[in-house]
Amino acid sequence: MKLTFSKKTINDAPKDYVRIRFVEEDKGVKRLVREGSFTMIELGMGKPEEMNARRFITLCRSIVRAAKQFKAKKIVIQFDRTPALFKHLSKGTTPEWVSRAAAESFVMANHEFLSYKTKPKDGWPELSEILLCGASSPSIEGAAKRGEIVAEAVNATRELSNTPGGDMTPVGLAKAAKAAVKGLPVSVQTLNRAQMEKLGMGALVGVGKGSPHGPTFTVMEYRGSSAAPIVLAGKGITFDSGGLNLKPSASIYEMHMDMSGAAAVIYAVAAAARLKLKKHVIALIPSAENMPGADAYRPGDILKSLSGKTIEVLDTDAEGRIVLADALTYAKRFKPAVVIDVATLTGAVLIALGLQASGLLTRDDALAETLEKVGEESGDYVWRLPLWDEYEDAVKGTFGDVKNVPGGASSRYGGVINGAMFLWQFAKELDCPWAHLDIASRMTAAPGDELAQGAAGAPVRLLIRFIEQWT
Ligand code: BES
Ligand code: MN
Ligand code: ZN
Repeated sequence: MKLTFSKKTINDAPKDYVRIRFVEEDKGVKRLVREGSFTMIELGMGKPEEMNARRFITLCRSIVRAAKQFKAKKIVIQFDRTPALFKHLSKGTTPEWVSRAAAESFVMANHEFLSYKTKPKDGWPELSEILLCGASSPSIEGAAKRGEIVAEAVNATRELSNTPGGDMTPVGLAKAAKAAVKGLPVSVQTLNRAQMEKLGMGALVGVGKGSPHGPTFTVMEYRGSSAAPIVLAGKGITFDSGGLNLKPSASIYEMHMDMSGAAAVIYAVAAAARLKLKKHVIALIPSAENMPGADAYRPGDILKSLSGKTIEVLDTDAEGRIVLADALTYAKRFKPAVVIDVATLTGAVLIALGLQASGLLTRDDALAETLEKVGEESGDYVWRLPLWDEYEDAVKGTFGDVKNVPGGASSRYGGVINGAMFLWQFAKELDCPWAHLDIASRMTAAPGDELAQGAAGAPVRLLIRFIEQWT
């Protein structure tokens, strides 16, 4: 799908372009209307005075979805003078924000996971062009171009996350990281099990023991500047069965997406390079398959992490925090300016926040504020939860230094915080701000998102905005 700009008005567009018309009706309204030789799609935009940045994003996506539903190949939108749409939106947003958000939303809404489906004889219904009419400017068109690049990174993240567990191993994920930056100035290096054992990464190695597909640890580096790097660590569990603490039947289904944090950091680095950002960004990808094999790690095992701290395993299903522990320790060698980890860490974050936001946990108020801001601007919404000292008792070990869950009934209380508090035991050794994003709640698209079912590609847009604004 290509995005084109035209200085003319929608009335000048050729007849074969389906016109998009916004009507002051309910948000769900989608109608195909023919007037003479023109075809239009009427879309409900709700009350104009209620239009805001968030609703604009879903409205843009619904344009694409309606176009696909009505099998329109080319559509045209009056992009600057639809007063009802832009009058209220203009509050608090810039024309560049609007243009980038629109481009991101169009491209994201156009994506579906079709790699495993047989192509119909007449091909997939495809939208080939969106023509945006009205006064634009180089900066507005530049913002749209950026939006397209960002959304392509989001879609590639979704594609990778959606790949079935049977087709994605830790080695496969390392290969995917390499493929993601092909032709870009990004270095990729992967450690295998033997190399990790030698380094002392007993946490990541321990989680990987139950699977015939050994663990990997991948480091990607984009040096757009020589400043201290932004380090992103992404949970890369290629399938989370729960291990010996096997998940109940209903909870296991989507666990091939338990590498969504890894997919997001892979494509955030790729996009940083593609956008030629003058930033230094490193992605760390600890990857394992969490399986109940004969050699699997057991409840009661005590793993020696790279930090030297021992981890008492009370529950093999709390594996994400264990693999991230070694990644956080590994981050130290880069003397980072900031570290952010991204993980589908807990089911508890779904209980706390529903499907609309990722959990944000950090001890650094300034970093929290920045992430909340770029979250809001990007559409990858986050909500902060506390990480007070009072919660630290939950992860103090009995026979080891730390335990991976509190144990007993209290394992179920404040699960998001417990996960983050465990990570903090390792992140506190860093000499820089650190934040944890629990993206389990945004692993898949929510019903109101106006996106195809499956992986949502969060929080790639947030990470890219974070990298862009970093000084
Ligand atoms: N990968 C899961 C978390 C998850 C759940 C992600 C649902 C996406 C959707 C994680 O490894 C896990 O199993 N967490 C446990 C932690 C518990 C054992 C303390 C959970 O949430 O049940
Ligand atoms: Mn698990
Ligand atoms: Zn998991």
